[in-house]
Amino acid sequence: MAGFSKDLGIDLGTVYTRIAEGNRIIVEEPTVVAIDVADQKIVEVGRQARDMEGRVPDSIEVARPLNNGVIADYEITESLLRILIQRVSGRIFKPNVMISVPYGVTSVESRAVHEAVLQAGARDAYLIQQPLAAALGVDLPINSPSGSMVICLGGGATQAAVLAMYGIVSAETMRSGGKSLDEYIVTYVRRKYGVIISPITAELLKIKIGAAVPQDTEQGMEVQGQDQVSGLPRPVTLTTGEIVEALQEPLRQLTETCRRVLEKTPPELVSDIIDRGMALTGGGALLRGIDKLLTKTLGIPAYLVDNPLTCVAEGTARGLAMYPALRRNLPPV
Ligand SMILES: Nc1ncnc2c1ncn2[C@@H]1O[C@H](COP(=O)(O)OP(=O)(O)OP(=O)(O)O)[C@@H](O)[C@H]1O
Ligand SMILES: [Mg+2]
Repeated sequence: MAGFSKDLGIDLGTVYTRIAEGNRIIVEEPTVVAIDVADQKIVEVGRQARDMEGRVPDSIEVARPLNNGVIADYEITESLLRILIQRVSGRIFKPNVMISVPYGVTSVESRAVHEAVLQAGARDAYLIQQPLAAALGVDLPINSPSGSMVICLGGGATQAAVLAMYGIVSAETMRSGGKSLDEYIVTYVRRKYGVIISPITAELLKIKIGAAVPQDTEQGMEVQGQDQVSGLPRPVTLTTGEIVEALQEPLRQLTETCRRVLEKTPPELVSDIIDRGMALTGGGALLRGIDKLLTKTLGIPAYLVDNPLTCVAEGTARGLAMYPALRRNLPPV
């Protein structure tokens, strides 16, 4: 029946929405929508909408409908999903969808995702916890009784989870992620230099010269900001060491979250994780040295997976194919 119905896996992220079909990523767009304020019609979605951010007149609103991994604006999320789903499956044939939600969200929050994807044109919709999808997407042996650990470092949420036998044994979610790291850099630059930089500039510093631990080679980068007192443009040069310092506190919160999850995990599973290591996924896993930081502070090897950005979407598509085995461990709707 190829061509009549599709099976899609969707990772509805705070920063990016990704759709997978089989092992292929077929959509990767920023979770951003531009709307005409007067008639509430969608002007652009994804990349085009993101490029309009901060550059449009009052007649257009550029919205980010997710916040910290959960839906903040239901209608805009539904419209975004409808457009992206139609783009890959046409208007006539409705796909079966598995879509990820962060671990530990409320039933109201997960029902909103389920409802939005059905309203957006899915025939059937199933939810899966993000760490479970990530583990499937990086091929961790979660079908066995031995323990695996995965950390999801997203833009809006951070999750640490131990899995075994197709399910989550222990986990925690922090409702903060990469965007919060950017905010810490903004605050650091303002306090130290009296210069205000935008979160977008802070993200650039983080990605280009940032790190979680001090590096052998220090890099520097000049960025434009605004003098806090005079209000005039003022350049400021930051170094790798300064970004490391700016990120100390949120990274401490991350290691504490991982530690708490390990504390709640049965010792038999912890010893499996010590042998096998913990998998770092999500855009935040690309921060230089974050594997070293976690390895050192937790005493358990942490490693960056091959597909940190796409594993959740790939795992949701895989999860749909494995539905009978997963079924009893999926969130109810
Ligand atoms: N090289 C890098 N170093 C540090 N952070 C990075 C790097 N590349 C991307 N990021 C960060 O990764 C985040 C986006 O990751 P990802 O696409 O996994 O998030 P998301 O799935 O949309 O969010 P969430 O899962 O929290 O809803 C952004 O905050 C971005 O700044
Ligand atoms: Mg994510």
